[in-house]
Amino acid sequence: RAHSRRLAVGGVFSTSMASADDLKKQVGYKAVDDYVRSGMVVGLGTGSTAAFAVERLGQKLAAGALRDIRCVPTSVRTEEQARSLNIPLTTLDEDAELDVAIDGADEVDSALNLVKGRGGALLREKMVEVCAKQFIVIVDESKLVPGLGVSGAMPVEVTPFCWQHTMRKIAALPALAGCRAEARRDAAGALYVTDNGNYIVDLYFEKPIADAYQAAQALRDTVGVVEHGLFLDMASVVIVAGAQGVYEKHR
Ligand code: 5RP
Repeated sequence: RAHSRRLAVGGVFSTSMASADDLKKQVGYKAVDDYVRSGMVVGLGTGSTAAFAVERLGQKLAAGALRDIRCVPTSVRTEEQARSLNIPLTTLDEDAELDVAIDGADEVDSALNLVKGRGGALLREKMVEVCAKQFIVIVDESKLVPGLGVSGAMPVEVTPFCWQHTMRKIAALPALAGCRAEARRDAAGALYVTDNGNYIVDLYFEKPIADAYQAAQALRDTVGVVEHGLFLDMASVVIVAGAQGVYEKHR
């Protein structure tokens, strides 16, 4: 079971009166300050929290406080942000092993298992984050859940070919009993297309997923599923910002 270590209350990490963006910034900056060193290959996550880590990395590189860094972005969005900050980029083809990856999450349970992908980047996120020696997850306390699948969608990336068939197969999996499956759509009502040209099926549960390992296996075994948003046994550290301050949970 994961254990928590409270780091700081007050001063720069005080979270009383902090806005949601302040909390995201605190954990994003802290992840870079504490876990990124010169010479590292770094995985860059996607989302509003990860964007603060990318911002901090850009600042430190520009100031000369970090040197000789190469980064693998997990989405086109993150790649564009990194390029705008002159952060040197690489790919898993060139650098198959990362020292560290930093990313947000949609849900974190007490064993540090995650739901990710509400931002649509789950495939590249998982590909990059499984290659990192340390995967640092950055969240505000609202992401901590008693069980996975309770706070919103658990996304599944599927091939466009016969996606409705794949969606029906997913909804009928016994390991996902009770879920409602919905194709993700954009603001205009068109099917949402990922950076990889695939679609996303969002799964909604009335109760926490009974056995996330079984659910992950059943999804992996479903032909037409490209990847799912259950990130199990992957997080090394979760940095949490909440009302009482910023603290870490370690596996
Ligand atoms: C994107 C993700 C994000 O990390 C997750 O959705 C959290 O995003 P945010 O920090 O904006 O709440 O998995 O695919």
